Amino acid sequence: MGFLIDLVCTKSGKTYSKDELWNLSEEGAPLFARYDLEQVTQALKKEDLATRMPTMWRYVEVLPVEDPKFQVSLGEGFTPLLQAATLGKKLGIPRLFVKDEGGNPTGSFKARGMSVAISKAMELGAKAIAIPSAGNAGGAAAAYAARAGLPAYVFMPKDVPRANYVECQVLGAHVELVDGLISDCGRVVAERKEAEGWFDISTLKEPYRVEGKKTMGYELAEQFDWSLPEVVIYPTGGGTGLIGMWKAFDEMEQMGWIGSERPRMVSVQAEGCAPIVRAFEAGEESATPWEGAQTVAAGLRVPAAVGDFLMLRAIRESKGCAIAVSDEELMACTSELGSAVGIFAAPEGAATLAGLKRLVEQGWVSETDRVVLFNTGTGLKYIDLFSERE
Ligand SMILES: Cc1ncc(COP(=O)(O)O)c(C=O)c1O
Repeated sequence: MGFLIDLVCTKSGKTYSKDELWNLSEEGAPLFARYDLEQVTQALKKEDLATRMPTMWRYVEVLPVEDPKFQVSLGEGFTPLLQAATLGKKLGIPRLFVKDEGGNPTGSFKARGMSVAISKAMELGAKAIAIPSAGNAGGAAAAYAARAGLPAYVFMPKDVPRANYVECQVLGAHVELVDGLISDCGRVVAERKEAEGWFDISTLKEPYRVEGKKTMGYELAEQFDWSLPEVVIYPTGGGTGLIGMWKAFDEMEQMGWIGSERPRMVSVQAEGCAPIVRAFEAGEESATPWEGAQTVAAGLRVPAAVGDFLMLRAIRESKGCAIAVSDEELMACTSELGSAVGIFAAPEGAATLAGLKRLVEQGWVSETDRVVLFNTGTGLKYIDLFSERE
């Protein structure tokens, strides 16, 4: 038994039963899981967490899986929060940290969302899952589906990093390469899912991937001893990580685990695909799809996001901002992060350092701020992007 009450439409507030498999609400908006947080507060004190296992399932009371036998885990989450003192001092931000998601199963933060989504799909009786993916989500879906014994159908753009494609195959998924972007892959899933009997686990089009990703917010609070940092810099495609952390902060405040202070949330995108940055700058509440999306950071090549309005809302409410960086800048930052911190970051993760540099130039961050860069995945999956040096 868990503490999940129901699902709530993020546009209309209408509620949906927790006992059925859902995709979007009638309004076409993401559904959010709602918990009985008062009961959670009775059942769990934050101090009790210290003795729990070092995975994201330490927060099981605020996760939606009701019967533990359906938990599908490969040991995801509770990733290191590394101080980057030397790099920080160089940038004038001595309290700089990197949350390194590269050590997750399948090498990215996508493991968190997939662990919960596949667990819940099993609990609610899904027979097969399908997913459009820019790369890492497909690999994670294939791994967790394999662990659960659930057939997985993965659709990726044909120029996806080779590691992601090979990984899906080795993990036993049915993989198809699509001539187009992730949005075209999403269309293929939407067209075929009914006839094929697939449950669509596109990000934010089912309610539980965001629940897995929100654990990054719980971890930040716990690792900073229940005081959130002043700035979080996050590479956003679909934006589920940022949206999930924002939800986590709200839940923790309701439980009295943290106060009302929030980090300024920064969305970093690539100049060749920056719909959220454009919408943020124009003061829009949602984003127009980006034409001709192009960037080496495959996870940021998301021309349209179903959770755009949630991302923009969180950025604004937090007094954060959205910023675009070039492929040259973010690739150069992989080496800088690598040599200064000891992390081989994914280009998406390195983009956060490129974003921070811009913000330092603009005087947007101050030397007293605790700033967290999210390295969302390992650079090893993108090895083809790197040229060898003598
Ligand atoms: C390494 C990496 N970082 C960031 C992202 C963007 O994540 P989200 O779609 O949750 O914004 C992705 C998505 O594919 C990714 O693979």
